[in-house]
Amino acid sequence: MRLQHCHNYHDFRTLAQRRLPGPIFNYIDGGADDEATLRRNSASFDRFDLVPNVLRGVRDVDLSVQIMGQSIDMPVYCSPTALQRLFHHTGEFAVAAAASKFGTMFGVSSLGTASLEEIRKRHSGPQVYQFYFHKDRALNRAMMLRAKEAGVNVMMLTVDSITGGNRERDLRTGFSIPFKLNLAGISQFAAKPAWAMNYLLHERFRLPQLDGHVDMGKGAMSIGRYFTDMLDPSMTWDDVADMVAEWAGPFCLKGVMSAADARRAVDIGCTGIILSNHGGRQLDGSRTAFDQLAEILDAVGGEIDIMMDGGIQRGTHVLKALSMGAKAVGIGRYYLFPLAAAGQAGVERALGVLRNEIERGMKLMGCSKISDLSRANLRLATL
Ligand code: LAC
Repeated sequence: MRLQHCHNYHDFRTLAQRRLPGPIFNYIDGGADDEATLRRNSASFDRFDLVPNVLRGVRDVDLSVQIMGQSIDMPVYCSPTALQRLFHHTGEFAVAAAASKFGTMFGVSSLGTASLEEIRKRHSGPQVYQFYFHKDRALNRAMMLRAKEAGVNVMMLTVDSITGGNRERDLRTGFSIPFKLNLAGISQFAAKPAWAMNYLLHERFRLPQLDGHVDMGKGAMSIGRYFTDMLDPSMTWDDVADMVAEWAGPFCLKGVMSAADARRAVDIGCTGIILSNHGGRQLDGSRTAFDQLAEILDAVGGEIDIMMDGGIQRGTHVLKALSMGAKAVGIGRYYLFPLAAAGQAGVERALGVLRNEIERGMKLMGCSKISDLSRANLRLATL
């Protein structure tokens, strides 16, 4: 299979699986515990049907939206994800370039493998900085200051990862940063020489957002152990309120799922919340973001920008989330598999496929702008 034969999420995933060493593919693909939440993230969209309207004059469709003060050309953004240069040697640079081409927002992770300054220099599109709150308060302050100086547009604090999710696929393969593999893992790397050559021949793998603060030379760490050892489980709403005040710009919380928490986010002055279960990688058994949307919208809709991520594999999934009332949706694996499969060309193809699906869906729904979508277009499915 080649890139031009990839027409949907599943095709990109298959191609990525062929190219990536098993431990890396499974790190992206996997979830926590029994992966029940991971599976349900996509399945939850099937619980609702779309009800189209016809004959509404939909020759021109405008997909642009405003979120957290940023104008984007399509209602989908690339959520921040870790370690991208491990998936393809062009990593974050490829994703940022593709996102810019499609006029959308791109997230840089605290655990990113390209520096936020470098990415900012190359691309002027809206940039989100995904922040992990570390035990080391001096590191937190330094990270905030650096993001401000780099010209980051939106601060995004992840609040669902104060301890590592139980990712059993990673335990089996020994996936860690930097690499330390058990025997089973090593044989899987040897089976993908093209990936290994690319990795070895390009710039050394680094975590530039944490350089000088976290000594990765001390030995390999699983992502779960990183969360557990480095991040601060004592973080409270007061800490976040201080961060919001210090940042003094668009600030959102990623991983809010309850109406009570959404209310607190409004109270401390957040600009946005992202309903998310971290791609099913943290609390297994957690409700899906899509299923929880209505409750949160009914509680604080109109007072704060509400977005969601998790399980988006089709344009119609996006249309259902927006009809329910989300302002935009984030994608993760949807662009990571194409990145792994073919670098920037892969991400561009995936974003193109998704944009076409959304545009086609809008026309078939009788909608020419995103604000035409509403709950009137949704019904609970009778399965
Ligand atoms: C993960 C983190 C790094 O889910 O976001 O692996």
